[in-house]
Amino acid sequence: MNLTIIGTGYVGLTTGACFAEVGHDVTCVDNNPDKIAMLLKGEIPIYEPGLAELVTKNVAAGRLKFTTSTAEGVESGEVIFIAVPTPPMEDGSVDLSFIEKVAREVAETVNPEQGFKVVVDKSTVPVKTGQKVAETIKRYGPKGVEFGVASNPEFLREGCAIDDLLNPDRIVFGTHDERTADVMRRVYSPFNAPVLATDVESAELIKHAANSFLALKISYINSVARICEKSGADIEMVAEGIGMDERIGRSFLNAGLGYGGSCFPKDIKAFISISESLGYPFELLKQVEEINDSQLDHFVSKIRECLWVFREKKIALWGLAFKQNTDDVRESVAIKLAQKMLSEGASISAWDPEAVETAKKFGNLEGDITYAEDQYSCLDGAEALVIATEWEQFGNADLAEIKKRMRNPLIFDGRNLFDPVNLAQQGIEYHSVGREPIKSGA
Ligand code: UDX
Repeated sequence: MNLTIIGTGYVGLTTGACFAEVGHDVTCVDNNPDKIAMLLKGEIPIYEPGLAELVTKNVAAGRLKFTTSTAEGVESGEVIFIAVPTPPMEDGSVDLSFIEKVAREVAETVNPEQGFKVVVDKSTVPVKTGQKVAETIKRYGPKGVEFGVASNPEFLREGCAIDDLLNPDRIVFGTHDERTADVMRRVYSPFNAPVLATDVESAELIKHAANSFLALKISYINSVARICEKSGADIEMVAEGIGMDERIGRSFLNAGLGYGGSCFPKDIKAFISISESLGYPFELLKQVEEINDSQLDHFVSKIRECLWVFREKKIALWGLAFKQNTDDVRESVAIKLAQKMLSEGASISAWDPEAVETAKKFGNLEGDITYAEDQYSCLDGAEALVIATEWEQFGNADLAEIKKRMRNPLIFDGRNLFDPVNLAQQGIEYHSVGREPIKSGA
């Protein structure tokens, strides 16, 4: 099928590459000429494992094209996906102006003689956005234009987006007529995954409800972690024990510094705001947010309590990305943690396997911060090591090397990557989340 994706950001680009990989002919459109120029040269604007290979392969096979022209995309696409940003506004509600603009551009460029087209919303949007998209196309489109509107939420995780897209655990699309639903079934026929076909509003709601539920799991386990700290229980064992119940499951029960990233914080805020505007104040989600914010403050106070003051203390910081396997620092808790320590006068040496450049560019990190050449030189002379991102290579670090490099063998681990008993045996003082601190030699 000929598919067009308007918006070549994280979701648009990875989705376009994967649609091409399964055999569709895909045109990716973006109004940023620099981004399209990069892609035409074979350069990938984001770090996502496996994406560069997929793009190169499918461009060479002639199944993946890039253009700045919406008109070209609208002409070539039987199905037109909208994958533009839906950023939060000051009050937490969603800015839908990019969606509206694209819907209008589609309406103004579509040729009614080309026959039936489907416009699919892939961006995360509030419920009822599909209705607005349909109204916009009707209002600005030519007379007699035949089109269907669908909502097709995306559940990919950064860092494993390609696998999530090629092997999804479910495909959800919502439509209001069988003709549109049939087109969507054809789009997804090359994928081997359960399909849930719903109405447009339910599909829109599924995305916000799913992300909010995952965030709720994280805040829940972080609250339990606080009780563990007060009672001497071990959060890792507690998470294991509750996760063994199939009805609950172990995933998204990793206690730590809380959730960040470009999706959860924004989507939870948006869902609270939408619920409010529909007349239901979603108090539970407000708590989820509050718990998430307080988790970071609590961790900072743990470090402060131990170091007494931050001023002029040399702190090694491992992790800047909002999670492992990405260079993305949007709403990164690691960045917020660095900001808090810097504002209290700490001297930070930071390291991240992928996110140093993005942190320099977008992290807004002001104060006494330098970026290390590698994971271990970051530690030289440090009085404490703070771990803020769950990169696998941090958990596999050489403990003897850590000890040798640091001024004091003292670790604050915001992601519970180490076994406390092992660290104590190595003579390292270790503070983590939801587990009792173990002093060296204990
Ligand atoms: C999320 C959803 O998982 C995905 O389905 C949706 O399409 C987009 O939003 P993503 O933002 O890429 O994906 O990251 P995810 O892996 O969900 O992690 C989000 C945040 O939660 C990260 O900051 C991570 O560190 C944190 N997290 C995750 C925890 O603190 N504990 C956990 O157990 C899991």
